[in-house]
Amino acid sequence: MKKVNWGILGAARIVEKVLPIIANSINGEIVAIGSRRKDAAESLINKACPELINKVQAFNGFDPVINHPIINAIYIPLANEDHTTAALKTIRSKKHVLIEKPMAIKTSDVELLLSEAKKFDVKIMEGFMYAFHPQFERLLDIIKSNILGEINYAYSMFSFPIQPARYYRIIRPMKSGGGALWDIGPYAIHTLRQCFKENPMRVYAQSKLNEHGADLSTTGMVDFGQNKRATFDISFECIRRSEVEVFGPSGRAKIPIIWQPENQKAKIIYSTEKSDSHEEIVPMVSHFDLEFKHFNECILKNTPPKLSSQDALWNVKTLIAISKSITNNEWVEVI
Ligand SMILES: NC(=O)c1ccc[n+]([C@@H]2O[C@H](COP(=O)([O-])OP(=O)(O)OC[C@H]3O[C@@H](n4cnc5c(N)ncnc54)[C@H](OP(=O)(O)O)[C@@H]3O)[C@@H](O)[C@H]2O)c1
Repeated sequence: MKKVNWGILGAARIVEKVLPIIANSINGEIVAIGSRRKDAAESLINKACPELINKVQAFNGFDPVINHPIINAIYIPLANEDHTTAALKTIRSKKHVLIEKPMAIKTSDVELLLSEAKKFDVKIMEGFMYAFHPQFERLLDIIKSNILGEINYAYSMFSFPIQPARYYRIIRPMKSGGGALWDIGPYAIHTLRQCFKENPMRVYAQSKLNEHGADLSTTGMVDFGQNKRATFDISFECIRRSEVEVFGPSGRAKIPIIWQPENQKAKIIYSTEKSDSHEEIVPMVSHFDLEFKHFNECILKNTPPKLSSQDALWNVKTLIAISKSITNNEWVEVI
């Protein structure tokens, strides 16, 4: 196999971005898209990449994609609660799977997906594109270099005003995958865990819930133990923010925009006791492109994905603990 043949489940908005990326990739090829809505896959191809309309197959439904004889890997950007069923079918048809975050909304589902992926010998990864951008790798390098001292506090903030087309995300309670916690909360927790290189010990959070029990905004604290603390704020009501900042005894470093558009220069701002504020410009790249290239390479060379099974598992454990804390208004251990 020289290139990975991809299928996509769901005509999600993100597919408009991902479709040309896979189509132009050096180690991937797009073969088919399936949607549960009649003709939605075909409309999406026409809108995003009309030049691919005779090349990419559009199906009504997921099964023709999952059972497709030449597809090797499937991208799942479905609503959170639909991930497990679609991913299980994909894995059991011996296809590799890249699942948008969160991998699933129950710990037992993530465990099942991971163990089935092992059993069927396929790669599985949770889709955190931001982790592939050189700006995030540079932040991790700065932390590792110890110029900030050992980091002991960080915050992450992620938000955007939710648009009517996405209201389906807030008409279900949190326990069924609805709200900001399950939608943008994974970024808030994943970024913090990557910076501290630790798993959280306990969490506390408060939310503004709507009439369906979905959180529109959530603010919380994450205790990583040994006096390492973080706070996070996520919202469907605030202006677009995707920001992380870390602090140590001798310095601080910040990425102002984690959801970095590919046509904008990325930057990191950092300062230490000994130096004024530096602004470091990072080259423009598409993190989606880097994410897909990486996953293709893992499949082609049989190497482990950069984002591990443990990442996916601890993400869901932390998010579940946060939802319990919101419900019971108390600190909850992450177990
Ligand atoms: N959008 C972005 O820029 C972006 C960036 C990074 C990551 N992501 C992540 O990617 C995932 C998908 O996000 P998204 O915003 O692209 O999803 P979305 O457009 O809301 O679509 C999610 C799924 O819902 C169904 N759907 C789409 N429009 C619908 C409609 N009008 N009525 C009923 N069902 C509809 C689609 O499945 P069917 O076609 O089968 O109905 C689709 O796969 C999320 O986890 C998100 O956080 C998105």
